Amino acid sequence: MGSHGGGGCDQHAHRAVVDRFLPRPHDRDHGDGTALHRRRSGGGSSMSRLTIEDLSVEVAATRSSILRGVDLEIEPGEIVGLVGESGSGKSMTSLATMGILPFGLRQTSGRFLVDGEDVTDQKRRSVSSRFAMIFQNPRDSLNPLMKVGEQVARMVQLHQRLGRAESRAEAVRLLGRVHIIAPDETARKYPHQLSGGMCQRVMVAMALACKPSLLIADEPTTALDVTVQAQILDLIIELTDETRCGVLLVTHDLGVVAETCDRVNVLYRGDLVESGTTARVFADPQHEYTRYLLDAGRQLEAADGAA
Ligand SMILES: Nc1ncnc2c1ncn2[C@@H]1O[C@H](COP(=O)(O)OP(=O)(O)OP(=O)(O)O)[C@@H](O)[C@H]1O
Ligand SMILES: [Mg+2]
Repeated sequence: MGSHGGGGCDQHAHRAVVDRFLPRPHDRDHGDGTALHRRRSGGGSSMSRLTIEDLSVEVAATRSSILRGVDLEIEPGEIVGLVGESGSGKSMTSLATMGILPFGLRQTSGRFLVDGEDVTDQKRRSVSSRFAMIFQNPRDSLNPLMKVGEQVARMVQLHQRLGRAESRAEAVRLLGRVHIIAPDETARKYPHQLSGGMCQRVMVAMALACKPSLLIADEPTTALDVTVQAQILDLIIELTDETRCGVLLVTHDLGVVAETCDRVNVLYRGDLVESGTTARVFADPQHEYTRYLLDAGRQLEAADGAA
């Protein structure tokens, strides 16, 4: 872990990383570091633990480093936050885990283990290891030319190997499962006919169609308005509790972390500088950059309170 001072971070970085509604640790019931007040207690676990070891990524042409030796662990039914300023490498961590790094980037080290089994060489981890991902802008992630029910049904066909009619029925069931009203009717609509929040629910339904062992949610609420953000987070929490899949929640918003995550990891310019339970990191941050983030959030909150 490198030592990074706060001095290199400008005021913009404060605003980019910290939500103005940053809660205090004592506002939350984080007592044992695992049970947040919005979480139900989970049932027995049949899902998988994901371990990421020593993940490093670089730009192939210039060999400039983007991630250096990142280690992460996600237990079944656990929501793990990954925070850091813009450009710190959150999305590249997500894409490398899915095995879909963009052209021009190269993974130079790293292993991915599912329940201890090495799946690093499996090229399509989304299928073989049931990793699913939802992105920041749901509308961009859906096919604009295909009805949403059909898009969910295709995921069902691919991952559950059901026939066409069964897949369509399952797609409608999944749309209902993510609390879309009139799922039968909605299934026949195109993405542009739905709100941003509904499109994100469709994305969550597509992720569920994979029966994921791991869900990576990369800024899943950033493009949505505040009320819808809370609904989508509640949905992710609810499904995590029900399916016991682990979630890697990428966010720049420490308020979301405090509200949602069991544990949190802080990335700074490609280095994982701090990891721990949300309660511990908020109450007793060890790294200078983490303290900087939390202090910045508190200052913004105080300024908002005084305004
Ligand atoms: N295709 C690419 N070629 C070269 N560099 C890239 C490429 N994609 C991303 N990068 C660089 O990798 C670094 C990490 O990017 P990444 O998208 O993971 O950041 P992030 O933490 O997700 O930021 P944000 O909060 O803005 O989404 C950045 O410096 C970015 O410029
Ligand atoms: Mg990103």
